[in-house]
Amino acid sequence: MKDRFDLIVIGSGPGGYVAAIKAAKLGMKTALIESREIGGTCLNRGCIPTKTLMHSSHLYYEAQSLQEIGIRYEGLHFDMDQIQEHKDSIVNKIRQGIVALLEANKVTILYGTATILGEGRIQLKTSESELELETGKILIATGSKPVIPKIEGANLNNVITSDELLSKKGNPYDKLLIIGGGVIGVEFATIYKELGCEVEIIEAMDRILPNMEKEISQSIAMSLKKKGIVIHTKAKVTRITEGEGNTLSCEYEEKDTLKITSANAVLLSVGRRANLEGLFAPEVFLELDGPNIKVDEKFETSISGIYAIGDAIRGKQLAHAASAQGIVAVEKMCGKEPSIDLNIIPSCIYTQPEVAVVGLNEEEAEEKGYTVAIGKYPMLGNSKTILSMGERGFIKVISDAGTGRILGAQLLCDRATDMVSEFTTAIVNGLTTKDLAAAIHPHPTYSEAITEAVEDVEGMAIHLIPKKK
Ligand code: FAD
Ligand code: NAI
Repeated sequence: MKDRFDLIVIGSGPGGYVAAIKAAKLGMKTALIESREIGGTCLNRGCIPTKTLMHSSHLYYEAQSLQEIGIRYEGLHFDMDQIQEHKDSIVNKIRQGIVALLEANKVTILYGTATILGEGRIQLKTSESELELETGKILIATGSKPVIPKIEGANLNNVITSDELLSKKGNPYDKLLIIGGGVIGVEFATIYKELGCEVEIIEAMDRILPNMEKEISQSIAMSLKKKGIVIHTKAKVTRITEGEGNTLSCEYEEKDTLKITSANAVLLSVGRRANLEGLFAPEVFLELDGPNIKVDEKFETSISGIYAIGDAIRGKQLAHAASAQGIVAVEKMCGKEPSIDLNIIPSCIYTQPEVAVVGLNEEEAEEKGYTVAIGKYPMLGNSKTILSMGERGFIKVISDAGTGRILGAQLLCDRATDMVSEFTTAIVNGLTTKDLAAAIHPHPTYSEAITEAVEDVEGMAIHLIPKKK
C-alpha cells in the first residue's frame, strides 16, 4: 500500500523545511522532498556561504588596519582553499542541524525530484526509481535560480553566476567584473575587494541598489568606491568575448558611449526567477503570475490543495520571508490564525557598513497620507561606533506625527542587520517613538543610537547638537 501523507512539501530551503517542521508540530503527517542538498539556496548557495566568506574577508581586510591601533604582525596572508573549506564546514554543520530537527519532528525526508501529477499526487524520481506518492495537500517551495541575461557571450567559460563563484576552487580571480549592482552584486564586490581583487560593477539603472532609498544606495556606492571598486551606472553590457590570455573582454554602453573593459571572470547578478522546471506534469495547468506561481491570501494556487511560498511566488526573495510564509501557509491549512505579520519584512544588505530597512520610507509614508515626523542620528556620535572605528552611517526613524507610531526605519551602520529587529517589533506591535525611548539601552552599544534617533523626532536627542532655529 502507498504511504499517504497529509502534506508533502517540495523543496527544503528556508521556506520548505520550516513549513514541514511547523506542519509536523501541528500534527500533520508530513514529507519533505529535496532534489539536491537539504537547506536549499539559502544554506547551500546563498545566505550562509556568502556571509561565511564575508566573515573571512572582513577579518582579513580589518586586520590590515590593526597596525593603526598598535597591534603588530608580519606576513598577513590568506589561503583561499582553506577559506572555502571553512565555509563548507559551516554549511555542513548547519545542514546536519536541520536534518536532525526534521527527523526529531518526524518529517519524512525523501531525496529525489518531485513532479506534480495533479491534486494530491506527486511523482518522486531518483536515479534508480520512480514512485507515486499520495497526499492531502502539496506545498511548493522550489525557490529560484539566477536569471541569465540575453547578452552575446553569456555562455562563455568564466561567465558565471553566484552558484559557481561560491564554489570556485583556488585563488580568487585577479579581476572580477560584475553585471548587476543589486544585492548579490554589491555583496560579492565587497568580499572580492576585501580579498584584494580588482572589482568593477556595471549597473543598468542610474544607481546601484536601485530598490533601496537613494541616500542608502549613494552612501554604499561612496563606500565601495572608497575601497577601490569601480562602478558604472546607466550602463549596459552588449557583448562578452574571449580576450587575450586568460581574460574576457566586455563591451558596454555607458551614457551613450561604447566602452570596453576586461576581467578574468564575469559575474551575472541581474536577478533570480522562480524555479519551476519539470515541476508540473504536462496535463497540470496552474495559473502563473508572470514568471511566478499565482497564489491567494492563503498561499493556495489555482488548483485546490496545492499551495506555494517563498521565491517561487511574487514578493521579496528573502530567506526569512520564505520561512514566515511557510509558517503562515501551514497555519492557514490547519484553520489557525496566522501568528506572523507578513506585511512587515525587513531587508538587509551585508556590506560594510551594513544596511537594514523595514516598514515605510519617508516618501511611501507621505504617499499613504501620513504627516511624517523624522528622527535621524549620525553614527559618528555613537561611542561604540567611534571605539570600533566604524564608518559614517545613520539610523533614521519615520513616525506618524499625530500618534507617534513608528512607521519605518532605515539603518546604515555596523550591526544594522541585528538592530533592525527592534524596529520590526515596534512596527508590528504599533509602538511609538516614546515606547522605544522608554527602554534603557546598554552603554556602550550601537543600539544606544536607536534611543537617540527616536528622541530626535522631537528634537530631544541628548548626544546631538541642537539644530539651529
Ligand atoms: P530555496 O532556498 O531556493 O530552496 C528551494 C529548494 O527546492 C532547493 O533546494 C531545490 O533544490 C529544491 N527543488 C526545486 N525543485 C524541486 C523539485 N522539483 N523537486 C525537489 N526539490 C526541488 N536571503 C536572505 O534573506 N538573506 C541573505 O543574506 C541572502 N543571501 C543570498 C545570497 C545569494 C548569493 C543568493 C543567491 C540568495 C540569497 N538570499 C538571501 C535569498 C535566499 O537564499 C532565498 O530567498 C531563499 O533561499 C528562498 O527560499 P525558498 O525556500 O523559497 O527556496
Ligand atoms: P537584484 O534584483 O537585487 O539586483 C539585480 C540588479 O541588476 C538590479 O540593480 C538591476 O537594475 C540590474 N540589472 C538587471 N539587468 C541588467 C543588465 N542587463 N545589465 C546591468 N544591470 C542589470 O538581484 P540579485 O542581486 O541577482 O539578487 C537576487 C535576490 O536575491 C535579491 O533580490 C534578494 O532578494 C536576494 N538576496 C538577498 C540578500 C540579502 O538579503 N542580503 C543577498 C543576496 C541576494
